[in-house]
Amino acid sequence: MLRKGLGLDIGTTKTTICSIDDGVLLREPTVAAVDVDTDEVMEAGDAAIEMVNNSPDKMRLCWPVWDPVVKSAEVLAAILRIFFRRAIGRTLLRPQVMVAIPCDLTEAQSNAVEDAVLAAGASRVHLLEAPLCAALGVGLDFASPTGQMLVHIGASRTEAAMIFIGDMVTHVTVQTGGKHFDNAVIRYMRNKHKLYIGTRTAEQIKIRLTNLSSTHEEKKLDVKGRFVDTKVPRIVTLSSREMLGALRDPLSAVLDAIVSVVEQTGDDMRADIAKGGIVLTGGAVLTGMDQLLADVMGLRARVAANADTAAAEGAALALERLGK
Ligand SMILES: Nc1ncnc2c1ncn2[C@@H]1O[C@H](COP(=O)(O)OP(=O)(O)OP(=O)(O)O)[C@@H](O)[C@H]1O
Ligand SMILES: [Mg+2]
Repeated sequence: MLRKGLGLDIGTTKTTICSIDDGVLLREPTVAAVDVDTDEVMEAGDAAIEMVNNSPDKMRLCWPVWDPVVKSAEVLAAILRIFFRRAIGRTLLRPQVMVAIPCDLTEAQSNAVEDAVLAAGASRVHLLEAPLCAALGVGLDFASPTGQMLVHIGASRTEAAMIFIGDMVTHVTVQTGGKHFDNAVIRYMRNKHKLYIGTRTAEQIKIRLTNLSSTHEEKKLDVKGRFVDTKVPRIVTLSSREMLGALRDPLSAVLDAIVSVVEQTGDDMRADIAKGGIVLTGGAVLTGMDQLLADVMGLRARVAANADTAAAEGAALALERLGK
């Protein structure tokens, strides 16, 4: 391929850019620093957050992707333009891009993604569903005539898919992901411990304390917040044993999606799942989720080593295959 080929995963919270030759080139928050007076996008990603922290009067943050919907195509294009330059430098030949997209996008939403990537400077844009990209990215064999099950968990949605020779035979999407885990932690702290905490604290608790394996060694974490009744600051010690209960509702939604796919799968391929197990990808896979699936469903599961970048890496691979 003469042009640089890029795999692109535009997430609600994180964007990842990969190429076949160089692997992961960029993984940064899908956010822009916007000038409050002119509405101009001044920075993107980690640098945007720093810019807004340094001058909160002059700048505001804008997250242009909300659930599956591109809220602001212009801001997204401006972010991607900055990201492309950061990932591959200034090039005369515009890159060709394969975008990993959610399975539940409408045609209008897919068009909005395509337009934003073109406006950001791509020469050509191709779209492929994220579970297929992730499957390629973790090295599942598309030539093998065996059913393979993959569950991709992002910040705003979970996509469970049964894949057979490079196609999705069945897939189920639920609007539940990492953000919903954070919200469940906030609700749990308020109801159980009478403590108000913010989203950032909830995310930290989720990442540092969660272990869904029933046999894990217990951990404890001191959590700072405000007492619900008096608003006075207070510290509560939280145990990892509480996390399964705290995350019960969103976890049930994720498990429902996985079970629905298994239920819709014929006997032959069910045997394939029993043999090959389930592969988990996406940034929001919780520690011990593989164990939980084994406990609840009696199916083997493994978290991919490159879970959070698999979709973008697989998109780059899919682009290379297209060129051959
Ligand atoms: N160690 C961790 N354990 C559990 N969750 C994590 C961990 N690290 C990050 N996360 C969560 O992963 C999510 C980001 O994952 P990912 O990059 O796959 O989402 P996204 O692509 O932005 O979202 P979507 O695809 O749903 O639009 C966030 O919700 C974040 O809180
Ligand atoms: Mg994603």
